[in-house]
Amino acid sequence: MTTHGTTRSRRFILKGLAATGGAAAAGFVPARFAIGQQAKIKLGMMLPYSGTYALLGKNIDEAFRLYINEHGGKLGGREIEWAQVDDQSDPPKGADNANKLITRDKVDFLIGTVHSGVQMAMLKVARDNETFMIIPNAGLKEATGALCAPYIFRTSFSNWQPGFAMGKVAADRGWKKAITITWDYAAGAESTGGFKDAFTKGGGSIMKAMAIPFPQVEFQALLTEIASLKPDVVFAFYAGGGAAKFVKDYVAAGLRTNIPLVGPGFLTDGVLEAQGDAAKGLETTLHYADGLDNPADKRFRPAFKKASGRDADCYAVQGYDTAALLMAGVDAVKGDIKARKEMIAAMEKTEIDSPRGKFHLSKSHNPVQDMYLRKVEGLENKYVSVAVKALADPDVGCSMA
Ligand code: BEZ
Repeated sequence: MTTHGTTRSRRFILKGLAATGGAAAAGFVPARFAIGQQAKIKLGMMLPYSGTYALLGKNIDEAFRLYINEHGGKLGGREIEWAQVDDQSDPPKGADNANKLITRDKVDFLIGTVHSGVQMAMLKVARDNETFMIIPNAGLKEATGALCAPYIFRTSFSNWQPGFAMGKVAADRGWKKAITITWDYAAGAESTGGFKDAFTKGGGSIMKAMAIPFPQVEFQALLTEIASLKPDVVFAFYAGGGAAKFVKDYVAAGLRTNIPLVGPGFLTDGVLEAQGDAAKGLETTLHYADGLDNPADKRFRPAFKKASGRDADCYAVQGYDTAALLMAGVDAVKGDIKARKEMIAAMEKTEIDSPRGKFHLSKSHNPVQDMYLRKVEGLENKYVSVAVKALADPDVGCSMA
């Protein structure tokens, strides 16, 4: 635990000790939680339900609820009360939105979000209030790095992880000169940073790092410059609506025939229908793929399709796994969420049997997971191979002490 918010920390610890009476140490939770168990557990969903990342937020939300419904609709025997905020992927509104959920709605857990800039604001508010938070997408490094905390978990990825995997694939192909292109915010910088780490380690170099402000989609000037610089490969970080447009514009600019386009899987996940033929054959790296041969995925995909009417993608998987992790923690303390230490310990040692394949969390609470190489075939990001096995983020600067 950091020294940050010491008064409240002490209150939590004292309450926790009084509540457990040392019983947890003896391996059981006492019956006196019966009264507390009757109150509902409040979940605060803070996700983008509108804007460029709307579909990402929607898939996370619906898959989260699917997992809860499949497992009895309760957490640790307690009913759930839901609060929801559309964060619109708008960083300046991030702190106010998180504060609404914590102060006005008095949520027990924050679930969110997608955009790394909004996540940074949420992270600060969660730390100020010591609010339990599970991140179902945003990959910003601070969440499991310099601003990590015992009560902050992530079930998705760090932005560095898929980027690093593609850098390795690109270097192994023998490509030497790359251009990176992205939106100018933390996720883009960290994703292209991961690509650069592996690509330069494998003998490649970055000719130029290009960026435009989020969520702009005017790519033409940069595509013209790429054509004149003639790199061996272009690595692009875009997601949601921006990814759909970028891939179409890349093909329309005539670049696809001469310069391979690669990226983290966000470039094609959930947007293949919108991209149409432009996405055909695109190779990306991610912690999820279509056609993974595991029982959890075989159960999940038809269930998600039935519940949402849409095909599963990585965002849906992350929402599903977020609920799984939360349930593992709350069930372990039989709904007594004031027994934080025990809840955290249970979550830390949980192995999630995810549709992406089984994974566990690092000491800083980020998934240690396989990164897959995928290739677009029809409307699927088809599994090709494991690009990097059990990849952990460097998690620089995290101290839980
Ligand atoms: C991010 O902002 O961290 C992010 C957004 C969409 C996809 C992947 C990462």
